[in-house]
Amino acid sequence: MRLQNKISIITGGASGIGEATARRFIAEGGKVLIADRNVAAAERLAGELGANAAAIECDVRKEASAIAVAEHALRLWGQIDVLVNNAGSELNRSYNETTSDEWDMVLETDLKGPWLLCKHVVPHMVTRGSGSVVNVSSLNGLVGFPLSTAYGSAKGGLVVFTRDMAIELAKSGVRFNCVCPGVIQTPMMERWTKLMPDQQQAQAMLRGVMPIGRMGRPEEVAGAILFFASDDSTLCQGAVLSVDGGFTAQ
Ligand SMILES: NC(=O)c1ccc[n+]([C@@H]2O[C@H](COP(=O)([O-])OP(=O)(O)OC[C@H]3O[C@@H](n4cnc5c(N)ncnc54)[C@H](O)[C@@H]3O)[C@@H](O)[C@H]2O)c1
Repeated sequence: MRLQNKISIITGGASGIGEATARRFIAEGGKVLIADRNVAAAERLAGELGANAAAIECDVRKEASAIAVAEHALRLWGQIDVLVNNAGSELNRSYNETTSDEWDMVLETDLKGPWLLCKHVVPHMVTRGSGSVVNVSSLNGLVGFPLSTAYGSAKGGLVVFTRDMAIELAKSGVRFNCVCPGVIQTPMMERWTKLMPDQQQAQAMLRGVMPIGRMGRPEEVAGAILFFASDDSTLCQGAVLSVDGGFTAQ
């Protein structure tokens, strides 16, 4: 029960890594607000998870959403202990075929969103002198890939944003850390696979990306997020944890 009586907000909590994190946080005794653009899926999951879970519609690109999410969590449970900035949008497109709107969409979802949520959640944590923010970046934020300029720039920016917040607020009692998942079997990865002409070849290729020879499960990332969310990581400030089956160890 590592999150007993702790209140968490999880953006993008209705699917994939966010959903696995919501399930794990509830299993660890926490209360979870699932903030997702897909409010129907968020409400379905919250209904399944019971009284310790709630859902709210949220588009992390919009400041009004960030304000509403923070207010809702405070109205429901009176405090916020953990913020997981997990909502993300992928783009697999060459730098010169990426449209200006696509660039904005990815940067706004994957980088501006976490900043907006921090802007409206972290001051409450600072007032209480404690809190943990976990940003979900990617191995695309650590190393270069083809067709990844928008996504990689956003995720790389999120790594540096994590460090900047960690230093700016180092003495506040609020911690900022980051996980960088590898290839994880989620609806996002399924969408990416569907873009490939040969599905079986794409699956085999994805299984071969990480040295461990398989894709990761969302629950395996949720475990790393839990570590930063919980008091097991009280000395971690600005840490960046690869959860990538050895990819960045190469
Ligand atoms: N799956 C992977 O292999 C992988 C690898 C590295 C990093 N990541 C990152 O992990 C995070 C979760 O990815 P996933 O694979 O679980 O994806 P997913 O598509 O399964 O889930 C993403 C969730 O975010 C929500 N969302 C998207 N845009 C939003 C917005 N603007 N506002 C609010 N909610 C929004 C979606 O509705 C969805 O519920 C993302 O940040 C992703 O970039 C995933």
